[in-house]
Amino acid sequence: MSNVGIIGLGHYLPKKKLTNADLEKLVDTSDEWIITRTGIRERRVAGRKERTSDLAVRSARQALSDAKLDPAGLDLIIVATISPDSNFPSVACLVQKALRADNAAAFDISAACSGFLYALTTAKQFILSGLYRNALVIAAEKITNFIDWNDRSTCILFGDGAGACVLSKVKGPRGIISDYMHAQGRFGDLMMVKSADREPLDQKTKTMQAPRIAMQGKELFKVAVNSMADAATVAVQKAGMKLDDIDCVVPHQANDRIIAAVAKKLGLPKSKIFVNIDKYGNMSAASIAVALYEAVKQKKIKRGSNVVLVTFGAGLVSAANVVKW
Ligand code: ACO
Repeated sequence: MSNVGIIGLGHYLPKKKLTNADLEKLVDTSDEWIITRTGIRERRVAGRKERTSDLAVRSARQALSDAKLDPAGLDLIIVATISPDSNFPSVACLVQKALRADNAAAFDISAACSGFLYALTTAKQFILSGLYRNALVIAAEKITNFIDWNDRSTCILFGDGAGACVLSKVKGPRGIISDYMHAQGRFGDLMMVKSADREPLDQKTKTMQAPRIAMQGKELFKVAVNSMADAATVAVQKAGMKLDDIDCVVPHQANDRIIAAVAKKLGLPKSKIFVNIDKYGNMSAASIAVALYEAVKQKKIKRGSNVVLVTFGAGLVSAANVVKW
């Protein structure tokens, strides 16, 4: 039997840490409020000149080295991001150029915090169909570009980072066993990037307001818990497994209370749920990619482990995969 599996992992986190104490100096908040309401202690912030593609390339190089694959062996590069360097060229093309992966097709996927799993499932289909052999899937975000540092309800939540994996056919029962992707556009208003309206062909507006995140946190919280629990349940059923068979859940890291509520809904002990939100906050698409990398390095995921990856994001989009490691 041959499945599509993850044969290499990588990650990259910018050096600069932004702690809750730093945020206390920016907005009316407290370390105690942030920790109790979100579980976040610090997050990373990319430098002014560091772009999303720079984070992506660093994580990609590590994943390729882990997979022992030369960039020339890549047929496909997909980058999940909602914070590309610019509208075009795509981050995937910038990565292709930096890696000199000249034989690869390359494109970006925009599915907010569900981007990594949307990209994983998409790349898997290309390999299963026989069109491509080796795919590089990257999730990279410089989401701090869109933060309104005067809005205490959002600026405490987010951070920058990137994670990457190489996908290829693998032998035996391991690999990505099931996939689930879902969208509920009716909840799109709960979280969006707002930018000032501009008239087409208007050259008079000299000062443009920077786009920034706007969010209805309380409402989003409830939809997030239900969407993630539903997505995990469907993916486990599609894998022909029961929730009891799952060894480790790697959820999107948006809020530790959301993660705890999902674990409760699924009837899983928190010990089976991988959490690193305290160190990085919400890195959008990159959250699960980085968490997966760390869970494997910390041996929370070992050969033979049944793993659930599960997420939700602005859109609203949710997704889940069951992976046998
Ligand atoms: N520091 C201190 N007080 C604050 C802060 C802050 N940083 N932010 C809000 N408050 C205040 C509010 O003003 C409010 O005060 P009031 O009672 O006087 O009106 C009080 O704290 C409670 O505010 P709530 O919004 O009700 O707080 P809640 O417990 O819902 O927590 C939070 C807010 C953390 C945003 C939570 O709702 C949440 O995590 N929601 C989901 C967010 C999310 O998942 N976002 C990303 C998803 S999509 C993606 O990942 C791309």
